[in-house]
Amino acid sequence: MDDRTAIAVPQEKPLFSYSRNPRYPALHRHYPSVDYLRRRARRHIPHFAFEYSDGGSGQADAGIKRNWAALDAIELVPRYGLLPTPPPCEVELFGHKYSAPIGVAPMGGPSIIWPGGDVHLARAAQRARIPYMLSTAGGATVEEIAAIAPDVFWFQLYRLANNDHALGLDLVRRAAAVGCRTLVLTLDVPVRTTRPREVATGIAGAFNVNPAILAQIARAPGWAMALGKYGVPRFANLRSYVGANASLNEVIAFAQRELRGAFTWDEVQKYRDRWKGSMIVKGILHPQDAEKAVALGVDGVIVSNHGGRQIEALPAPIDLLPAVVRQVGERATVMMDSGVRSGSDVVRAYALGAAAAFVGKAFLWGLGALGEEGPGHVIDLLIEETQAALGQLGAHNLDDLRSLTIRHPGALQF
Ligand SMILES: Cc1cc2nc3c(=O)[nH]c(=O)nc-3n(C[C@H](O)[C@H](O)[C@H](O)COP(=O)(O)O)c2cc1C
Repeated sequence: MDDRTAIAVPQEKPLFSYSRNPRYPALHRHYPSVDYLRRRARRHIPHFAFEYSDGGSGQADAGIKRNWAALDAIELVPRYGLLPTPPPCEVELFGHKYSAPIGVAPMGGPSIIWPGGDVHLARAAQRARIPYMLSTAGGATVEEIAAIAPDVFWFQLYRLANNDHALGLDLVRRAAAVGCRTLVLTLDVPVRTTRPREVATGIAGAFNVNPAILAQIARAPGWAMALGKYGVPRFANLRSYVGANASLNEVIAFAQRELRGAFTWDEVQKYRDRWKGSMIVKGILHPQDAEKAVALGVDGVIVSNHGGRQIEALPAPIDLLPAVVRQVGERATVMMDSGVRSGSDVVRAYALGAAAAFVGKAFLWGLGALGEEGPGHVIDLLIEETQAALGQLGAHNLDDLRSLTIRHPGALQF
């Protein structure tokens, strides 16, 4: 073997686990990208749980597919000729350092995908030091998450306006009392819409155990065992206002009465006036809405279409990102979500001005495929892929991405 042959043989790169899972190299061999996790999740958890994680609004999940296609269409032109260095991808968001410009989007119902899901997500985020947003409709309380993930805990609030926002303000008070530093108000659910795959599986609006559901659970023994360990999914934050012994459907009915509409600008102002930490609005698409939020003193915006779960006619957030960055990027932190499934997507978002990309469904597929180990594996994959993308593009750090030449065919101009 001469020297040239030796150089031509690619070396196996050691894999570093940000989630501190010694099994990462083994998991990586079986699930080398998020799409493998999605396929495994489909077979590994009850059908209703997979449909909940995977389905969008409208015909054939058109909005979800648009989010993916819009990201896929973005091309970044690399620069070569400099030696690659191990690219650092730490970021600072609202005065705190995180390992990567990647975070866990708020989701009601990770515990449907895998019992205890909220806790597994929060634990993995804390280990890897990436932001974790607990949803108002999540399966763990603000107090529980503050104990598990004290350094990375952001709290997402839906509009709970009855009795002059008594419940919403109480949740915010509780979050502040346990040290949460970042509040996220979601603006993009003004009405309830239909997700056909949830309706067809019978879990939209209420959860009734029937023979079909039981048969699905019987085919997913790992999920059933986790159910035995962690208990039935619950709206933990809201449950405390209904009563400790309330049934799941009583809590769901309560949530449907209380969770109504999206925050008005006056209401955003009300929360801004009371919340002392950083405040973000999530679900912005129009640059003028971002402008309005920033004028009210909001520190950050998340450009999002709720991952294609509201209506399929919304544009992909990545296509609005440059316009929002142009509008408010010098005065506020602009972030995005919807459709992010890989480190290349994270890098595309960062290159177009997002300070961080948040990830929803990919984390659910990780949970569905691998249970407790899933969220950490998704984090490890995404950070690894982000670093690889930086190296491949000739970027020595994240900021180098901003000077690349970019083809962005779907970018919306205002
Ligand atoms: C099952 C599920 C539940 C969700 N629940 C919430 C929620 O309670 N609050 C919220 O602001 N967004 C919620 N979202 C939207 C996510 O925060 C995020 O915007 C979206 O998932 C990002 O798109 P992606 O799934 O393509 O990554 C949910 C998304 C999913 C998939």
